[in-house]
Amino acid sequence: MEKWEGKIAVVTGASSGVGAVVAEKLARNGINVIGLARRSEVIEENIKKLGELSGKIYARKCDLSDIQSIKDTFNWIEKTFGTINILVNNAGISGLNNVLKEGDEAEKLVNKMISTNFTGLVHCTRQSISLMKKSDDPSIIVNINSSLGHHVSYMDYSLGIYPATKFGVRAFSETARQELIYSGSMKIRISSISPGLIKTAMTADDFFNNFPILKPEDVADSLFYILSTPPSVNIQDILIKPNGAAY
Ligand SMILES: NC(=O)c1ccc[n+]([C@@H]2O[C@H](COP(=O)([O-])OP(=O)(O)OC[C@H]3O[C@@H](n4cnc5c(N)ncnc54)[C@H](OP(=O)(O)O)[C@@H]3O)[C@@H](O)[C@H]2O)c1
Repeated sequence: MEKWEGKIAVVTGASSGVGAVVAEKLARNGINVIGLARRSEVIEENIKKLGELSGKIYARKCDLSDIQSIKDTFNWIEKTFGTINILVNNAGISGLNNVLKEGDEAEKLVNKMISTNFTGLVHCTRQSISLMKKSDDPSIIVNINSSLGHHVSYMDYSLGIYPATKFGVRAFSETARQELIYSGSMKIRISSISPGLIKTAMTADDFFNNFPILKPEDVADSLFYILSTPPSVNIQDILIKPNGAAY
């Protein structure tokens, strides 16, 4: 991991679950982390509990469903740090909702999920690539996608618009990867991790007790494998299922 030591990583959704574990693991390995979330105060509280770290974690409030909030955040990152070399697009929301359900509440949830999981990720990626181009060093973007970005399964209920947002992320990432190659910018790589169920706040409902489930650390380990690969290797996607998951 030495090649990333002292570099700057942005982790979206760093206040909870996978993002909190990833931010800690990066900082324990000497990487400086800018953790983004609406609840930046939760990131601050987590930092206090972590003790001595070889990298530093900075907490910054950012609402990914608001493009202006993303632009303000990346303007601040550019002014403060100049460039970044790692982006972990992790923030996301789910929610039980039938895509065909009528009414204002259902419509709001559909829009919120698209703007957070898809549009927010698109704009974080666009802003990050613009900053990464200012660095001479190799850079990498890793999306925390989902196995539901590969298939749609009905687990006693509809997963609503969530799989569509994750399929969209996969298409966007591949398009961005190809654009980078054709523009000759091969020093920026784009990868994804597509996990099955993970034990986090997103799966706190008792319903999920009936399924085999991953730990956030399993996802962080896959991220570290991707980071360990040389610039000549581009891991496009790691699809991980909990052992025993039939879905
Ligand atoms: N848990 C699973 O079973 C599972 C399975 C496959 C993939 N995933 C994916 O893994 C990623 C992490 O999820 P998790 O399981 O760790 O969930 P989590 O514990 O609920 O964490 C979600 C994170 O996203 C942030 N977030 C949500 N909306 C945001 C917004 N509008 N702006 C900024 N940040 C926002 C939250 O921070 P604030 O609330 O503080 O803003 C939080 O830090 C997601 O992309 C999810 O789709 C999860």
